[in-house]
Amino acid sequence: MESHSPTLLKVENLSKKFLIKKSLLKKEYFKAVDNVSFTLDYNQVLGIVGESGSGKSTIGRLVLKLIQKDSGRIEFKGRDIYSFSRKEEKQFRRETSVVFQDPRTSLNPRLRVRQIVEEPLIVHGFEPEERKERVKKAVIDAGLDETFLDRYPSELSGGQRQRVAIARAVVLQPDLILADEPTSALDVSVQLQIINLIKKLKEEKGISFLFISHDLNVIGMLSDSILVLYRGKIMEKGEAGKILKNPIHPYTKILLASLPPDHPSHRDRLKTIPEVYREEVEGGCVFYSRCPDATDKCKKEPEYKLTDNREVYCHFA
Ligand SMILES: Nc1ncnc2c1ncn2[C@@H]1O[C@H](COP(=O)(O)OP(=O)(O)OP(=O)(O)O)[C@@H](O)[C@H]1O
Ligand SMILES: [Mg+2]
Repeated sequence: MESHSPTLLKVENLSKKFLIKKSLLKKEYFKAVDNVSFTLDYNQVLGIVGESGSGKSTIGRLVLKLIQKDSGRIEFKGRDIYSFSRKEEKQFRRETSVVFQDPRTSLNPRLRVRQIVEEPLIVHGFEPEERKERVKKAVIDAGLDETFLDRYPSELSGGQRQRVAIARAVVLQPDLILADEPTSALDVSVQLQIINLIKKLKEEKGISFLFISHDLNVIGMLSDSILVLYRGKIMEKGEAGKILKNPIHPYTKILLASLPPDHPSHRDRLKTIPEVYREEVEGGCVFYSRCPDATDKCKKEPEYKLTDNREVYCHFA
């Protein structure tokens, strides 16, 4: 067997800003991703959690090179994804895929399931015989059966549609799948089925997932490691079990406390992320204005600290 480094994806100091206002004199930018670093090993799930607008999808899109980075480095299988040859680029497209939140809009309503799942195989030049085999296998791997092949998306339930999106994502046998809120549009019971399917694909096919969700509960169910994001910055990063049992960053604590009261990780009575406590301070901790534990020290930006095997962005970690 070929041996390789356990690292599938390595992201270093990744940053991305978007132009939000432009006048003759001035351009205004929004930092959507700010100096983010992480690694993802083969056969692992990395959960990215944070509230709306925290930069989760932007990280996902940067990593898959769907949008261009401003700075930093992204390595896939030890190669800088920005120095790929054309052939390597094509290989990268084959080895990575994506599942989005809403299968109603991500599946072409005019195509049958068979055609939807077959599309990536056509793009990558597979012969008809092999396409047929692979489509069948992918649909079965996604927990559907052959009777679904001739149906249209409109004839499927939300969960079944998401399974079709997953079949399309696995049909090229990728090493990495970006799953961007894949369960957020689904009922709770269906959510659980999709989470179990992703776990199964990880275990049986060895696929790694970047799994994005605003819901720490969902993230906790399937992630090996977790990255907690706030305003484009990592607040806490480490092994999932540790973060869920013993969160260190105040923002992680708040995310955990806002889980339903019967959730095992529930800790205290905080139900929602607090409103603003105080004015922001330029050059201070990005969580300063909303942090229940901030002191004057937090008017200065913290460095990342390694505590209990985790990287934490907090003076008090
Ligand atoms: N193309 C763009 N142009 C301008 N601003 C953008 C663009 N894409 C994202 N942003 C901004 O960057 C920030 C991060 O967006 P992103 O979509 O990554 O957040 P998110 O964590 O995925 O949020 P959500 O949970 O709502 O999906 C947001 O403030 C968003 O408005
Ligand atoms: Mg998003």
